[in-house]
Amino acid sequence: MITSANIAEIRAQIKTWRQRGETIAFVPTMGNLHQGHITLVKEAVQRADHVVASIFVNPMQFGQGEDLDAYPRTLIEDQKALTGAGCELLFTPTPDIMYPKGLAEQTFVEVPEISDQLCGETRPGHFRGVATVVCKLFNLVQPDIALFGKKDFQQLLVIRTMVEDLSMPIEIIGVDTVREASGLAMSSRNGYLTAEEKAIAPALKRTLDKLAADVQAGDTPETATQKALQQLDLAGLKPDYISVRNALNLAQPRSQDKQLVILAAAYLGKARLIDNLEFSR
Ligand code: PAJ
Repeated sequence: MITSANIAEIRAQIKTWRQRGETIAFVPTMGNLHQGHITLVKEAVQRADHVVASIFVNPMQFGQGEDLDAYPRTLIEDQKALTGAGCELLFTPTPDIMYPKGLAEQTFVEVPEISDQLCGETRPGHFRGVATVVCKLFNLVQPDIALFGKKDFQQLLVIRTMVEDLSMPIEIIGVDTVREASGLAMSSRNGYLTAEEKAIAPALKRTLDKLAADVQAGDTPETATQKALQQLDLAGLKPDYISVRNALNLAQPRSQDKQLVILAAAYLGKARLIDNLEFSR
C-alpha cells in the first residue's frame, strides 16, 4: 500500500487507474481503525478495482472542548490493518494540507435540514465540518463509490443528501454496524471507557432493542421512548437524546410510516456513545 500526504501524488496514482478505465472505491476515516472500518474496506475491495482510504482527524468537525487533541492516532497499526484488508492507497493529509487558509476562511458545505437535529443539536457545526471535508476528499479522490458505516446513521444521510443535492457522480454505500460480542457498536471512542464502563456500555444497544420491540408491540414512539430513557438512566448511562424517526429522512414518524430508525447518544465517563437501530412495524 502506498501512503502519501501529498495531494499531487494521490491525484497522479488515481489518474493512472482512471486512464486504464479501472474503478475506485473510497473509505474516508479518522484512523485508529477497528473491525468496523476494516469491514468497510473489505466491502470496498469486493465492489471496485482499487480501494483508496484516508486518515484525517478533521479539526473542522470537532467543537470547542471536544476530543480533537486526545483523539487516538495509531498510523502504523492502521497501515498494517489497511494493507491486510486490501487497500492500495492511503491519503494521510495534515490540517495544513487540507485547510491551507485555515478553518475560518474555508468555503464550507452545509446540509441544514438533516444536520440541525439529534447529534447536530448537541454538536453545532459538526456536520458542516463532516460534509465539507468529505466533499473535499471526494474532489481529490474522485471515486466511483464511497462507503460509510450505518453506525453514524445521521452522517450517512448527510453525505447521501449532499451527493444528491450537489449532483456528485458517486454511489454511496451504507454498511451495517459492526459490534462487539456484547452488542456494543465498535468505535474509536470506546477506548476512552474504563473496564467498569465497558460493562455498562452494552445497555445502549439493549435499550434500542427493547424500544423497537415496544413500538412493534403497539406502544407509541413517545411512550416507548420515555421507558427507554428510564432504562438508560437505570443502567448508568446519561442520555443526550433517544428518538424514533422515519428511517429515510429522520422526520418525526407519522402513524403510517413503516420504516423507522431509533437514534441515540449517551454519555458514559469520558465517552459519548452513539448507536441506532433500523426496524419496521
Ligand atoms: P470515523 O469515525 O473514523 O469512521 C469512518 C467510517 O467508519 C465511517 O463511515 C463510520 O460510520 C464507519 N464506522 C465506524 N464505526 C463503525 C462500526 N462499528 N461499524 C461500521 N462502520 C463503522 O466518521 C468519520 O470517521 C468521519 O466523520 C469522516 C466520515 C471520516 C469525516 O471526517
